[in-house]
Amino acid sequence: MTFLKSVFLTAAGVLLSASLAQAAPTAAFSAKFGVCFACHGVDGHAILPTYPNLAGQNKDYLVQTLREFRDGTRPNPVMGPMAKPLSNSDIDQVAMYFAGLKATK
Ligand code: HEC
Repeated sequence: MTFLKSVFLTAAGVLLSASLAQAAPTAAFSAKFGVCFACHGVDGHAILPTYPNLAGQNKDYLVQTLREFRDGTRPNPVMGPMAKPLSNSDIDQVAMYFAGLKATK
């Protein structure tokens, strides 16, 4: 119990400091889309050079491509399952978030 609690608090702390570092996604946003940050970065700059940067990308493009991943018209073994559970409104939110970040690379 104590162990789980400290794991949870550590995870919350990491998310909190990540969000304080810049234009702050809300806790609710991070809870939902934190998985995206694991690869694309909380600042929209990918953690590996083989993953795409999303910061500053056109919002309409992000919406379109996420719907394509979800619907299978852009088949991808990684992004297909990621996009599957997203509603149109989730896609709009996350697209707006990444489009609004400043590309620094
Ligand atoms: C395990 C790592 C990983 C996670 C987690 C992940 N992605 Fe991706 N994402 C990728 C990779 C790899 C690609 C490139 C896919 C390809 O080859 O077309 C990609 C592509 C994309 C693209 C298209 C970029 C472009 O330039 O066409 C968008 C948009 C995107 N991801 C958004 C998201 C969102 C939103 C989430 C969270 C719901 C997410 N990703 C979670 C690895 C990841």
